Amino acid sequence: MLDGEPIIQVKGIVKDFPGVRALDNVSLDIRPGEVHVLMGENGAGKSTLAKILMGVITPDAGEIIYKGKSIQIRTPLEAQSYGIGGVHQEFMLVPWLNVAQNIFINREPKRWKGLPFIDHRRMHEESAKALAKFGISVDTRQPVKYLGTAVQQMIEICKVLTTGPKVLILDEPTAVLTEREVEKLFQYIKVLQSQGVAIIYISHRLAEIRRIGDRVTVLRDGKYVGTVPVREVTDDTLVQMMVGRNITQMYPRHRRASGPELLRVKGLCVKDGPQEVDLVVHEGEIVGLVGLVGAGRTELARAIFGIDRPVKGEITVKGKPVWPKSPQQMIRYGLGLLPEDRKRYGLALNMPVTKNVIMASLRRHFRFMIDSQKIEKLSNNYINELRIATPSAYRLVRYLSGGNQQKVVLAKWLDTESKLFIFDEPTRGIDVGAKVEVHALMDKLVQEGAGILMISSELPEVLGMSDRIYVMFRGRIIGHFRYDEADQEKIGALMLGIGVKEADAS
Ligand SMILES: Nc1ncnc2c1ncn2[C@@H]1O[C@H](COP(=O)(O)OP(=O)(O)OP(=O)(O)O)[C@@H](O)[C@H]1O
Ligand SMILES: [Mg+2]
Repeated sequence: MLDGEPIIQVKGIVKDFPGVRALDNVSLDIRPGEVHVLMGENGAGKSTLAKILMGVITPDAGEIIYKGKSIQIRTPLEAQSYGIGGVHQEFMLVPWLNVAQNIFINREPKRWKGLPFIDHRRMHEESAKALAKFGISVDTRQPVKYLGTAVQQMIEICKVLTTGPKVLILDEPTAVLTEREVEKLFQYIKVLQSQGVAIIYISHRLAEIRRIGDRVTVLRDGKYVGTVPVREVTDDTLVQMMVGRNITQMYPRHRRASGPELLRVKGLCVKDGPQEVDLVVHEGEIVGLVGLVGAGRTELARAIFGIDRPVKGEITVKGKPVWPKSPQQMIRYGLGLLPEDRKRYGLALNMPVTKNVIMASLRRHFRFMIDSQKIEKLSNNYINELRIATPSAYRLVRYLSGGNQQKVVLAKWLDTESKLFIFDEPTRGIDVGAKVEVHALMDKLVQEGAGILMISSELPEVLGMSDRIYVMFRGRIIGHFRYDEADQEKIGALMLGIGVKEADAS
């Protein structure tokens, strides 16, 4: 199956953006029925290549060959005419249109052939049917902006699937999905594969790639590094190909005795969310908070940070009782939150890196006027420390790759010099090399006396970095472990609610 003629060949593609060569003479071929994984560090050029194939941007040089014939893909519509379609890394839905309108945008089914009357009933039925395949039932008349990010992502996936693609491009599709949807998506990918659909799959998650990938192509700094069968390559080799060096320690953590209490949460309840939550974070500690997506971890973080109001409970910061009224207030108490949904809550996309970096720490930088030289220097420090790939500190954040945007949010919170952080999925979408750097940075922060509550869906990360771990299930904390008594299986079972008495679980 995998030795067939390629459906698409990319030859010598070059793409320049101001100040960066995003793709530098990249060639590869995609065969029908294969899951071809694209890997590489943040900013390596993966999304750029995906966008070229989807007709969103045009290459400066190079050739695309479709079934042996040289073609031009100038628009998404042209891509669609070749059966090429995909899901972007960033959301592309129209927020105020409803689910069905989004799925069938620009190709609404007509009531009578040739006449411009939309068959709304069919549109809604088919949308619902497509979503049902993934176990999702939503009112297709709802504007998508009211739906959660996971459901929005599935809508994007259904949107391309209903076009019946021959080449399906998925750019980090699982970043915002819950385990259940990931499972469904992977099953569906297998079905598509058996029908001969070629799939280009972009992800930073090695475990995923091992599950569904056939071949993997690695890019580094816009250059082609190599293509290898997934089964024949070790994780170490892949990492080496991506970052060009060996990484010896994924979790650089120096654990030490913890200091005084920084945060205490007691009996906290949020409407339709977490219930009776007790937890503590001390100085010098990284405290992991695990649970399935939907367990209430993000809701808890938002309540502590004053975005959503808790209805009951107590919160003390350094022994002082506080009742979270707004994020601004909690920032003054020394709390920082790295949010899960960064595009929405974390960044000003149309501002440069410099402005984003100081956005949460303005009070500290603003004396009589902003010293722009100082801010530039400060930003450059973060750019170096976090290895943010950008040609300059003044580049608008919207032009950075997804993972590098994530690092800018991180820099912004680091600059608040907070003592207490809530990190919600801090390394999501971040490449392996940068992950280690973020981990090292977290370690450094707690060495210097900070405390971190880390929400993560990646168990190895939690086990590798935390001093203590809380397990959350259906809004309640149902388990608490010291790192040396925690093991992946015990925690994994608890996350799924296995072994939880019904009374606790309800
Ligand atoms: N529209 C644009 N304008 C300017 N520069 C851009 C634009 N799009 C991408 N770039 C730059 O091109 C390079 C490659 O970006 P790309 O988004 O392809 O990376 P990526 O491999 O997808 O990274 P990530 O893992 O972070 O998503 C980056 O340096 C990025 O800043
Ligand atoms: Mg990308």
